[in-house]
Amino acid sequence: MTKLSGSILAADFLNLKSEIKRVENYIDELHIDVMDGHFVPNLTFGFPLIKAVKNITDLPIDVHLMVTNPEFHIDKLLDFDIQRITVHIESTVHIHRAITKIKENNIEAFVTLNPGTPLVLIEEVIPYVDGVLVMSVNPGFSGQKFIAKSIEKIKTLNNWKQKYGMNYSIAVDGGVNSSNADVVVSAGANILIMGYGIFKNPDLENLSSQLRGK
Ligand code: DX5
Ligand code: ZN
Repeated sequence: MTKLSGSILAADFLNLKSEIKRVENYIDELHIDVMDGHFVPNLTFGFPLIKAVKNITDLPIDVHLMVTNPEFHIDKLLDFDIQRITVHIESTVHIHRAITKIKENNIEAFVTLNPGTPLVLIEEVIPYVDGVLVMSVNPGFSGQKFIAKSIEKIKTLNNWKQKYGMNYSIAVDGGVNSSNADVVVSAGANILIMGYGIFKNPDLENLSSQLRGK
């Protein structure tokens, strides 16, 4: 089953509530990019914004941490009643500890990796995660071009499911849109995270009915 996740980084911030309400019926979850201006060259949302979004929607929330010292953010997020926390392998030397802590608190734990990071670096924690997020752009900004080589990573991750006898999710984030969604899904992804593809899509209804639930 393919799920659509709306990355609010591409929403009109000054009308965030109505933006979320506008897309709510066409997507399965919201994706909130937390950036610290250090791990990535951009600054975005903090805890008050996540709380405010949580108050106006019943959609599951995935917090994508693009920060150094993610342990600090994880600790704070544990009582936020969010569905998922996604942590970068490059951001901590204690990824196993971070994942374990998230899961012990009944929150889904996804590990993610930058386009330049080889999959082998996350292989050791595969048995512990609920999902893997393949970054298909260099993290930091919405509206960038999909890096085609990411498809190979998605395929390999799909094959690893058999190798490990697991059924984890495969999410893809960055440059996914109506024109490449099919290829991404065929490679094995089941969660499509989209900023522009959702919030700037003039025909969101069509995209949603074509992809969701397939
Ligand atoms: C990039 C973010 C993405 C971004 C996706 O660092 O992690 O979630 O908002 O936006 P699009 O789909 O526009 O590339
Ligand atoms: Zn993201």
